[in-house]
Amino acid sequence: MKTTTEKFGVTPHQPSLWTRADALKVRADDPTTTQPLVSADFPVLNNDVFIWDTMPLRDLDGNVTSVDGWSVIFTLTADRHPNDPAYLDENGNYDILRDWNDRHGRAKMYYWFSRTGKHWEFGGRVMAEGVSPTAREWAGTPILLNDRGEVDLYYTAVTPGATIVKVRGRVVTTEHGVSMVGFEKVKPLFEADGNMYQTEAQNAFWGFRDPWPFRDPNDGKLYMLFEGNVAGERGSHKVGEAEIGDVPPGYEDVGNSRFQTACVGIAVARDADGDDWEMLPPLLTAVGVNDQTERPHFVFQDGKYYLFTISHTFTYGDGVTGPDGVYGFVADSLFGPYVPLNGSGLVLGNPSSQPFQTYSHYVMPNGLVTSFIDSVPTDETGTQIRVGGTEAPTVGLKIKGQQTFVVGEYDYGYIPPMLDVTLK
Ligand code: FRU
Repeated sequence: MKTTTEKFGVTPHQPSLWTRADALKVRADDPTTTQPLVSADFPVLNNDVFIWDTMPLRDLDGNVTSVDGWSVIFTLTADRHPNDPAYLDENGNYDILRDWNDRHGRAKMYYWFSRTGKHWEFGGRVMAEGVSPTAREWAGTPILLNDRGEVDLYYTAVTPGATIVKVRGRVVTTEHGVSMVGFEKVKPLFEADGNMYQTEAQNAFWGFRDPWPFRDPNDGKLYMLFEGNVAGERGSHKVGEAEIGDVPPGYEDVGNSRFQTACVGIAVARDADGDDWEMLPPLLTAVGVNDQTERPHFVFQDGKYYLFTISHTFTYGDGVTGPDGVYGFVADSLFGPYVPLNGSGLVLGNPSSQPFQTYSHYVMPNGLVTSFIDSVPTDETGTQIRVGGTEAPTVGLKIKGQQTFVVGEYDYGYIPPMLDVTLK
C-alpha cells in the first residue's frame, strides 16, 4: 500500500491501527458505554416506510443546521410491504423481519423536516426515480453550502458497483414546510482503486461507501471520510505483530481473522467545490479485528479530532468481539496517530440483553447521538421481536480527553439544530 505520498500539501501519514489487543479491552454492558434499554413499545415515525441511517443537514464544519427555523434530516428509506404476497409467511401473516432484512436492496434517500428537532414530518424522495444511476441509494451526507439554500448531497450509488457520488440541489422553505428542489444531476466522484482500497474484483464482500465531507479546522482544506476495506485479494492480508498488538500470553492465535480488513478512508479535494478528489491512504485500519467501519465521522472538540465509526458484532474477527454500536478514536492532528477511546474503542454499544436494539449511531458535535431502532425483544427469551425501522431515543454523551461517558437520554429522533441559517 502507498503510505508516503505527498499530495496537495497533505502530510504523508501511516494509517493508525485498531489492534486485536485494543479490541480485547471491549467490555459489553459497561454502563458508561452502553445505550440505555430501548422499550418494545416505541413509537414508529411512519408506518408506510422503514427508515434507518439518519443524516442530519449540516455545514462543512459539522454543525447540525436548520434553515429558517426548520430542522431537516435525510434518511435511508424503503417501503414496507404489509400487503405484498411476497412477504407473507406460511400462515399468511406479514413477515416484517424478512421485509426489513431485504431493505438494503431498495434503499432510497428521503428527507423529513421539523420545527422542534423531533416530530419529523415526511418530505419525500430527494431524487426522482431514475435520477440516481444505480439501484441503491446508500448513506452519505447532506451539506448546506450557503444562505441561498444550496445543498450538496454526497452519497453512495450501489449496485452495480459502489461509487461515491454527489448531487446538488436546493432546500426551499415556506411557513408550512420544506421541499428539496433540483437534485437532478448525479456526479460520480470516485471508486475503490485496488491499491489503497479494496475493490469488488478483490473481494465480493468489499465495502466502499458512506462519504462524510468536512473542512479541516486546522488547515481549512476540504476532505472526506468514507468506509473502505484495505486493498488486496480476499484472504491475502497478514495479521502480524502490529495488527495483534500487545496481547497477553495465549492470545497470539488470530484464527481466520485475516478476512476482516475494515478501514476508515480519507480523500482530499483538489478544488474548492469538492468536484475533484484524490484518495489518500486510510486514517485507520482494523485488519484482523473487524470487517466494517461504517459511516465514519468526526467531532472536532478541544483541539482534538474525535473519529467515530459504527460496527457490528458479526463483523469482528475470530477471537475478538464487541457489541453493535459506535466506536471512537482520538488524535491531536488529522492524520493521527489515533488511539482508541476508552482504551478499547467502544463508545456506545447495545446492551447484551438487546443486541440489535439500535444501530447506525451518529455522534453530533453537541454530544447528542442519534441512531435507528433495528429490533427489540418482546419476551424474556428474546425469541419474539419487534422490528423498528424508526428513530431511536437520542443519547447524550460526554467526551473528555480519551474517555467518553453516557450522560443522558432524550426523545426518539431528537436532533436539535446547533445553528439556524436564514435563507436569502
Ligand atoms: C449502515 C449501512 C451503511 C450503508 C447502508 C446500507 O447501516 O450499512 O454503511 O450505506 O447501511 O443500507
